[in-house]
Amino acid sequence: MSAPFRVVGKPIRRFDALSKAVGATVFADDYKMPGMLHGKVLRSPYPSARIVRIDPSRARALPGVVCVLTAADIGYAKMIADIPGQTGQRERPRSETPVLAWDRVRYKGEAVALVAAETEEIAERALELIDVEYEPLPGVFDPLEALKPGAPVVFEPDNVVARWRIRKGDIEAGFAAADLIIENTYRVPFVEHAYLEPEAGVAWVDERGVINIRVSTQVMEHFRTVARTLGIPQNRVRIQGAFAGGGFGGKEDITVEVFLALLALHTRRPVRLVYTREESILAHSKRHPYIMRYRTGVKRNGRITALQVELIADSGAYPYLSPYVSLYSTVVAAGPYRIDNVWVDTVAVATNNPFTSAFRGFGGPQPCFAYERQMDEIARALGLDPLEVRRVNYLRTGDTTATGQVIHSAALLEESARRALEALGERTPDRGPIKVGQGFASYMQPYGRLMWLHDTSQAWVGLELDGTVVIRCGAPDPGGGQLSSLCQIASEVLGVPMENVVAYTPDTALTPLAGTTTATRQLYMSGNAVLQAATAIRRTLLDRASKYFEEDPEDLDLADGRVFVKHDPDRSMPLPDLVRICAAEGLPLSHLAMFKAPFRDPIDPETGQGDVFPDFTFGAFAVEVAVDTETGQVEVLKSVACHDVGRAINPAAVIGQIQGGSYQGLGYALMENLIVENGEIKTPSLSEYLIPTSVDYPTTQVILLESGTGVGPFGAKGIGEPALTPVAPAVVNAIVDAIGVPINEIPVTPERVLKALGKPTVTS
Ligand code: MOS
Repeated sequence: MSAPFRVVGKPIRRFDALSKAVGATVFADDYKMPGMLHGKVLRSPYPSARIVRIDPSRARALPGVVCVLTAADIGYAKMIADIPGQTGQRERPRSETPVLAWDRVRYKGEAVALVAAETEEIAERALELIDVEYEPLPGVFDPLEALKPGAPVVFEPDNVVARWRIRKGDIEAGFAAADLIIENTYRVPFVEHAYLEPEAGVAWVDERGVINIRVSTQVMEHFRTVARTLGIPQNRVRIQGAFAGGGFGGKEDITVEVFLALLALHTRRPVRLVYTREESILAHSKRHPYIMRYRTGVKRNGRITALQVELIADSGAYPYLSPYVSLYSTVVAAGPYRIDNVWVDTVAVATNNPFTSAFRGFGGPQPCFAYERQMDEIARALGLDPLEVRRVNYLRTGDTTATGQVIHSAALLEESARRALEALGERTPDRGPIKVGQGFASYMQPYGRLMWLHDTSQAWVGLELDGTVVIRCGAPDPGGGQLSSLCQIASEVLGVPMENVVAYTPDTALTPLAGTTTATRQLYMSGNAVLQAATAIRRTLLDRASKYFEEDPEDLDLADGRVFVKHDPDRSMPLPDLVRICAAEGLPLSHLAMFKAPFRDPIDPETGQGDVFPDFTFGAFAVEVAVDTETGQVEVLKSVACHDVGRAINPAAVIGQIQGGSYQGLGYALMENLIVENGEIKTPSLSEYLIPTSVDYPTTQVILLESGTGVGPFGAKGIGEPALTPVAPAVVNAIVDAIGVPINEIPVTPERVLKALGKPTVTS
């Protein structure tokens, strides 16, 4: 394959677009089965309590109730042995989330019992009839409090869920060499994923005794966890993925799978379980709140001589992915800058708050808010241009990161920032109390998983006898267009028109495992797997055709459903004819490929030094805001995102990802705030927890850079998570530019603006 491309790079309408637009897509809970029951989950009303007694007898007696399950019914009665939980950090005994709480509850909303009934109404009523006696226990709701001696302990022996550190260079010497030291503390809140589709699924036991679970998920491989928790073999669990109505990391952990499996197994009938919006907000993970202390030593020209960072993450009541999320944060804590002396200390802390886990950016957006606010504060202190301060520090290809990893791909940091700022244009003039500001932020965000995890993806590509193509790849598509992009890659390589390529939604019975749709890894991993599989078939086709045409395979090409001689395109053959010849001769027309990410040993835990990720995406976000200094209202006037995506396989999908990430980031900056008080969510539905709608902000202008240097197919990098990462700091930098006083906490609500300006607020 060589450029120019015929299909790759074209803004093709995704094959799933129309059915979604007209509401015809069949999602996980749209599946009806004969005799189907309805499941419900009883949840703890306390954030911290001992369970004294659970009595389900009244619920079981209710007509229409088929099954009530408590911890005792699923083998948790004698909780002496290490009975596996649903997910989380297994290295730390007893810190896994139990399927159902048995001795105590650690957060409000924790699952305590399951019900299956003939109707949803009966199931709902049954929940009220389960008698649970709780003895409330003191809880801990602040990570700083949780670290103090004598604080209530969520899990023995202490509340430290994970610690990470970076020790690079000589931090003392670095600060001694500085002309100025800038020190600030930054804070970011809990954030809710707020996907359109709440957690949902349908499960049944089939005629061979396999539990089928049709579910909205980012991770097909959870069938293994289902098997482990139920104590059954892994080949007895089948996960069927549907198109998910959004995931953003919230469907990276197990949601309804184990509950559904238990109810289906115990009732031997199909069971459907769909969370209400309020239950979804109560029951799934959140983005980690962080407290981030940054201390930076700089020369007068802005060059950074030393950086010391302390990151404190609220892990909530169960570890889930906090150890990994906090590791990601640690690795990118220094930002996309070349700093010789770096010292980072990260701690993820258990509390009785809602548990926190993956959310778009996976620990990247929080430190980006801090390091990019900090760069602007450095510029303000030195009286320098914010771009100039960054320019003298930006990482370039060949430089090493804070963990000592050499950047091999393009690092178009200066170019992306410059392009975004240029497109933002002249500053809009102030109007009386309305002050206008401009700001931007740069970032680095990994794509692909940690390299010590032996990550793989598999894809099967096959040609049918009529020359059409089938892709079987277990990559969940939560809306990013992952499957459509795989089609585009196969279409390019095999010269088959897009409309003749089909990719199935993942199903562990049908599609080879491709790993998780997380970590911005699917285009990179499964894209490469499809590229490998399609290339193998292409080789077979061209080898056979070379005999027919008596030409070298290199002198042949495939396009528009034909094979032809490059220098004499009139000598050609329809692809179906070539396929039939190959089939008749027994040549393989399908291929199962496995793409393996590069492997590295884990980082040194003492110094944090080592190669961590396969590669990074770089880019910038620039924004102009108008701040009403009388009301504190912030209006976004214009925003521009410029990212080096390596190669835009489908520019329309890439732009969609960037605009979506931009909106989610604007919400993070200005609006979204999951308020938690004493372990209780005070914004329990989408009428209190506000997310931006299409009328709140103008559409972000997108500038795509294509360095072609990524490790994905055709040099692609990843853009799913990076699209969000730089938005919040850019917005707050613009606000600070407008009002001239720092704000170091998001969301920047009108109250926070007025407080920063020293003006009275409604609440004060
Ligand atoms: Mo993600 S936040 O790796 O789904």
